[in-house]
Amino acid sequence: MAQIGTDQQRAKALLEAGNVVGIPTETVYGLAANALDPDAVVTIFRVKNRPAFDPLIVHTDSLDKVTRFVTDLPEAAQQLAATFWPGPLTLLLPRQPIIPDLVTSGLPTVAVRIPNHPLTRALLRSLDFPLAAPSANPFGYISPTTAQHVANQLGDQIPYILDGGPALVGLESTIVGFEGGMPTIYRLGGLAQEAIEQVIGPVALRSHSTSNPKAPGMLSSHYAPRKPVYLVQPGASPPPTPRSGALVFRELFGGIAGGNQRTLSPTGNLNEAAKNLFAYLRELDQLEIDQIYAELLPPEGLGRAINDRLRRAAATA
Ligand code: TXA
Ligand code: MG
Repeated sequence: MAQIGTDQQRAKALLEAGNVVGIPTETVYGLAANALDPDAVVTIFRVKNRPAFDPLIVHTDSLDKVTRFVTDLPEAAQQLAATFWPGPLTLLLPRQPIIPDLVTSGLPTVAVRIPNHPLTRALLRSLDFPLAAPSANPFGYISPTTAQHVANQLGDQIPYILDGGPALVGLESTIVGFEGGMPTIYRLGGLAQEAIEQVIGPVALRSHSTSNPKAPGMLSSHYAPRKPVYLVQPGASPPPTPRSGALVFRELFGGIAGGNQRTLSPTGNLNEAAKNLFAYLRELDQLEIDQIYAELLPPEGLGRAINDRLRRAAATA
């Protein structure tokens, strides 16, 4: 069983020996290994039960190091990096050959991110290699926002989880690429589209495509609890049923037991809602209920990324 602790030296030694380790970030917990060591990276895919066609994000701690992994940093990428790193933003950039094929699933681009968590930044600074890290959940399930979430599902397969407390953003990073010179969001996430557009102007959005294999995180049925999820439009309410649960934005639904409901943000704060989203979905998934009704949020700020995750959770294929 994985140990949970705050021993950065232990995490470092395990990673240097080719092991995988659970690490905290501000978005969600990651399952990390030496990104430059294909044997270590293979372990990530095995532990997560993740198909090899789904590429990984490379995490590092400085822009200087990023330039060793990519061949080009377009102007818009430089502006975004300068404004939002460290932070919940991943950039797709043309890769250097030092990045193994396994990490990018053979794609010509590599996904890179400088995460904003003090423990993980210190760990990354202390290592002489970057860390490949997907979210630390079994493939297709909800991402973990605490060390205990990681232990609950992957604890018997990994030696150590670095505990950095609950993730402060709570949604995976926003993924931005620059194919054909057009800044494009491939996954809505913890950095709002509006914030990105304030810096570089209008961006395209491709994250709703389900046929495009560019980012398999786009698979429609993803980030999903085991129980069926049904969406409820803002202001509407679900049918009253005894064995239902609900994830609501500000106020409980009538007709469903209060103990079977979770409120994302009583004050209507979308950042607070994002921070609570995955933990509450996990809690609801554990209850003695047959289905979860999830209320859609206002489509602005992080509300758009939250709605994206709820739609994927509700998709059955
Ligand atoms: O916040 C996050 O991004 C977290 C933390 C741990 O950093 N990581 C994360 O990783 O969410 P993961 O593997 O669960 O999601 C990464 C997504 C996948 O959908 C993958 O398909 C996409 O990034 N991706 C990675 N490399 C890519 C590439 N070269 N081109 C297109 N999509 C890529
Ligand atoms: Mg994931």
